[in-house]
Amino acid sequence: MAKHTDTFVCQSCGAVYGKWAGRCEACGEWNTIQQEMSEAGPPGSLAGAAGGTAKTKGKKIEFTGLTGSTEEAPRLNTGNQEFDRACGGGLVPGSALLIGGDPGVGKSTLLLQIASGLAKGGASVAYISGEEATAQIRLRAKRLGVEKSPVHLASATSLRDILATLKAEKPDAVIIDSIQTLWSDALPAAPGTVTQVRACAQELVRFAKSSGCIVLLVGHVTKDGQIAGPRVVEHMVDAVMYFESEQGRDFRILRAVKNRFGAAHEIGVFEMAGNGLREVANPSELFLTGGDTAVSGAAVFAGIEGTRPVLVEIQALVSPSTLATPRRAVVGWDSARLSMLLAVLDARAGLDFGRNDVFLNVAGGLRIAEPAADLAAAAALCSSLFDSPLPRDRVVFGEVALSGAVRPVNQTEARLKEAKKLGFSGALAPAGAQSGTLKVVEAETLRELVRWAR
Ligand code: TYD
Ligand code: MG
Repeated sequence: MAKHTDTFVCQSCGAVYGKWAGRCEACGEWNTIQQEMSEAGPPGSLAGAAGGTAKTKGKKIEFTGLTGSTEEAPRLNTGNQEFDRACGGGLVPGSALLIGGDPGVGKSTLLLQIASGLAKGGASVAYISGEEATAQIRLRAKRLGVEKSPVHLASATSLRDILATLKAEKPDAVIIDSIQTLWSDALPAAPGTVTQVRACAQELVRFAKSSGCIVLLVGHVTKDGQIAGPRVVEHMVDAVMYFESEQGRDFRILRAVKNRFGAAHEIGVFEMAGNGLREVANPSELFLTGGDTAVSGAAVFAGIEGTRPVLVEIQALVSPSTLATPRRAVVGWDSARLSMLLAVLDARAGLDFGRNDVFLNVAGGLRIAEPAADLAAAAALCSSLFDSPLPRDRVVFGEVALSGAVRPVNQTEARLKEAKKLGFSGALAPAGAQSGTLKVVEAETLRELVRWAR
């Protein structure tokens, strides 16, 4: 018999304690620690049913060399280009993916469309929901116009039943919506607890590896933006994608935060419509506000999201402050980065923002993490400070160093090409970015930027 031990597990981060406490020391959350009975050893596998085999001789494992057979199963295309791009060019057989997102963002909708796409491509796909009845899924499929696709639907939450069915049916891909609704009867813990989520994910990942089936797990996200349940699920799977939306907007971004088989930070952009998610092949159209009248404080940044160039407008507002400590507010960018940029503009270009409130906003609700956005943010700030509009047909990119120097960034050519494609006629860019694509004004330091923006 496996030995049962009582442990206390934080339901927010998965930290394990020997005794109860009111506050989790690992994540700082209050009242999240619950008593759970757990079996010593990996759940339901070595310690459980297979316990008897320990007495028999261990089976020798086979090693194989790098030069063995390399017949690689091709990636499975879902027919949805944005989704395929976000996973690095299609789904790898035998891989497990975790797709997280807030409730209502459209995870079930996306995955039903993906299931239908895979089924249309000839793959056998199972969609197992623990949240909706099959009739409800059918209703949704009808709304999405995919009710004719040969997708196998089931409504189930018992891991044992699900695995037995999958082993018998052997589908090419299975979608589990969601991992938080599953429960394994090998464990005494309640569904949705860290112990259950972890154990169920582990079993499903093991099934994916041993059978070659693609397992897509849906995960809910907690209020602080992490996948509910332990972070350890993120380490088990091959790829973690977040499905995000900005409040009050129709577009959704599928962002790969980890991918063993492709580039991380790759994004797929969708728009939620009445009949499901529409692919947005040209996301720049969402992030440029358009309009021909030039206003001060707006600069177009030529950025790279994953491997794809995306143009986005950066807006700044600099206005005299009535407060002793002027306000600094940022949406879509790093606030520490803004403070740094303001200090550099002050020290190296002699621009004083000290008595002004400063607001910075990335249009369209995109979040930018690239240092290459520095110069565009600086351009927007200067333009607002001088109350002088920037030329509307120019893009800006470049990293700003503490010395006030403008440093080169990667993928210059891709940025310029995208700008040209969207009808821009010039760029302000780091020295050396000259190319045949667009007319480039080179900025070596912030001084050139200030001269350009005045
Ligand atoms: P859903 O996929 O159920 O979200 P999740 O599984 O992430 O919780 O999406 C629910 C939202 O999407 C709901 O607010 C309605 C909206 N929606 C549409 O706008 N159009 C559609 O065609 C569908 C199916 C849903
Ligand atoms: Mg759902």
